[in-house]
Amino acid sequence: MRVLVTGGAGYIGSHTVLALLRAGHEVHVLDDFSNASPEALARVGAMTNGRIGLTRGDVRKDSALDAAMEGFGPEAVIHFAGKKAVGESESAPLLYYDINVGGTVALLAAMDRHGCGGIVFSSSATVYGSPDYLPLDEDHPTRPANPYGRTKLMSEGIIADWAGATDGASAISLRYFNPVGADVSARIGEDPIGVPDNLMPFIAQVAIGRRKELAIFGADWPTRDGTGERDYIHVSDLAEAHVAALAHVAGRTGYDVCNVGTGTGSTVLEMVAAFEAATGVAIPYRLTDRRPGDVKSYVASVDKARDLLGWESRRDLPDMCGSTWAWQQANPNGFRD
Ligand code: WQD
Repeated sequence: MRVLVTGGAGYIGSHTVLALLRAGHEVHVLDDFSNASPEALARVGAMTNGRIGLTRGDVRKDSALDAAMEGFGPEAVIHFAGKKAVGESESAPLLYYDINVGGTVALLAAMDRHGCGGIVFSSSATVYGSPDYLPLDEDHPTRPANPYGRTKLMSEGIIADWAGATDGASAISLRYFNPVGADVSARIGEDPIGVPDNLMPFIAQVAIGRRKELAIFGADWPTRDGTGERDYIHVSDLAEAHVAALAHVAGRTGYDVCNVGTGTGSTVLEMVAAFEAATGVAIPYRLTDRRPGDVKSYVASVDKARDLLGWESRRDLPDMCGSTWAWQQANPNGFRD
């Protein structure tokens, strides 16, 4: 299929473009490179000898969207473009609503202008808020606790309404848990700007010597070892879930939602131990207070992804940690090397 990937130069986007090309799809990327590097796409192209169409532009702008769709004629869109930092969304909510929600509305209108009726949306498990039960299934109440999560839930609703009002439309929202790791080639990976918010890239920067030690946010959670538990999923598994979701979207009409995780939780201390075991690199850490807004545990129910998409994760913690370290060692300063 001809697939337009918004935000396709980003961490998850570039891994998904790689998986799409390997599955034989044609890809055009729309990205403003505000949080991504053109080098990521150059490397994906070099790995696949695939031609990747590119429009540099803002997903909110009709001119950029029309330029990306004119001529390429996408049959479906995978929509990653957006802001994704919970903390930043608290201090700059209007920016998040403008880009994440406004961008989704502009994209859907452009899809209508160009006769494109299929979309896979990059949503987030953050829409669930504090869990009533675990593992979190897709019927769990959605109570996002921050502007970022609210933009994701609003975008899901907008897409659902668009699908319901548009003949032949087909859409799915994928609720990601915690993506980590890098492609086995170590040519692409997570390259956060500034101090990493997330656990795995911070651990990787401690391991490479860019950070002195890891601060573990809270050791008094009611978990196995007192530290926070999350469902970490290898970014290549996540990318492959998008290929499966695209096939699902192509084969039906209507709207659906699906978690993308492994169904297994790991605590912070277990992640540190797994990273040390996989890499042989000691990770110094100190125990500090809980981070505002954190919850004790987030683990995905993965039954629907298996039944609806025929997809399951297949990479384990050693893969996640080993691939992160291979990427970080080969690219100590990310794509700026
Ligand atoms: C994981 C665990 C922290 C950093 C966020 C977003 C979510 C999604 C994924 C976009 C927690 C602990 C972390 C550190 C630590 N992003 N931690 N020291 O918060 O589960 O999810 O990223 O969709 O929307 O909310 O991920 O990696 O920040 O934290 O102890 O320096 O690691 O307390 O228990 P999180 P995270």
